[in-house]
Amino acid sequence: MEIAVYPNPVLKIKAEPIEDINNEICQIAEEMLDTLYDACGVGLAAPQVGLSIRLVVLDITGEKTGERVFINPYIAEERGETLEEEGCLSFPDVLGKIIRSQYVKIIAYNLKGEKLEIEAEGLLSRAWQHEIDHLNGCLFIDKMTPASTIANKTKLKELEQSYQNNKAGVS
Ligand code: CO
Repeated sequence: MEIAVYPNPVLKIKAEPIEDINNEICQIAEEMLDTLYDACGVGLAAPQVGLSIRLVVLDITGEKTGERVFINPYIAEERGETLEEEGCLSFPDVLGKIIRSQYVKIIAYNLKGEKLEIEAEGLLSRAWQHEIDHLNGCLFIDKMTPASTIANKTKLKELEQSYQNNKAGVS
């Protein structure tokens, strides 16, 4: 799968809930996991591969074990505050500092339709908040500190220019 890069408009669309966990969804999840590992990322949301559905793959250790596919995830509880730097596969070479909740409790479903309750802190908590933002069409550049916004201004302009060039068929 190809990763949608900023400013691809699909990244700004609020994704639809998944009503039925069928073979197609299982297939998409598998391909998204391959795409995640190929890109050496920790998480990927379906809108990042051009699909406006509420599906996230997440593996912060890269160990390819445990639950890694999450359907219709949402934040049930959150508390605390932490400021750390993060990146995004849809924003090559962009890093920015963002305030996130320190703790989150996530409710989601696995591919068997079983309900999962995940408590997360640190990097996992940050990754979850980042991916759920993707499902809501919210991007990390919209949440960066003013200093990070300024630091990334040129890089974002470059990404916008290159997106326009690609669309126009210029390589
Ligand atoms: Co991202």
